[in-house]
Amino acid sequence: MPRVRPSPVIPHLAREQANAVELYLQYKGYHWNVGGPLFRELHLLFDEHASTIFETIDPLAERQRMLGGAAAYTLESMHRASTLPHETGLPATTREMLERLLAAHHVVIEGMHEGFKAAEHDADPGSADIFARMVQAHEKMEWFLREQLLEPPQIPEEGGRASVVAEKGGFNPTLAGSHSPSPFPGHPLTS
Ligand SMILES: [Fe+2]
Repeated sequence: MPRVRPSPVIPHLAREQANAVELYLQYKGYHWNVGGPLFRELHLLFDEHASTIFETIDPLAERQRMLGGAAAYTLESMHRASTLPHETGLPATTREMLERLLAAHHVVIEGMHEGFKAAEHDADPGSADIFARMVQAHEKMEWFLREQLLEPPQIPEEGGRASVVAEKGGFNPTLAGSHSPSPFPGHPLTS
């Protein structure tokens, strides 16, 4: 039986699996520990994003198995493989929470671009599809965090300029209870 060559996409899947585990824990930590005037808003938002990220872990791990690799599962191996900024303690402010999460999403988005390119280069449309759909979910979460950092909130006008909403105090009220990002727009992944 011919030996199957190891797929060059596996390291990208393994790295993003580890990043997903780490980012899931980071979101949960902030969900539990956030406080202040935006408590309810951020407590709920962080949990929604945690759930979205949790759903990405299984497909990333199982894809490695499909390509002939082994899926790591210990926290130690996740920590070693992750490329996210290392969390050593709780942020001092909610703004810092949002900034750290944004930085983490930027790392993941860049990593998924790399994974997508590697999959395309290896003629692996299945993995390319996984990365393409997951990167959309991360871009959406990144957008929601970015909007939370606008102060006062800005409403884009036609033509690209933004106007200030004067009567509100620092967060976008349209977010409350209305955010359910689908991790995989179009169709669900099987597990
Ligand atoms: Fe909770």
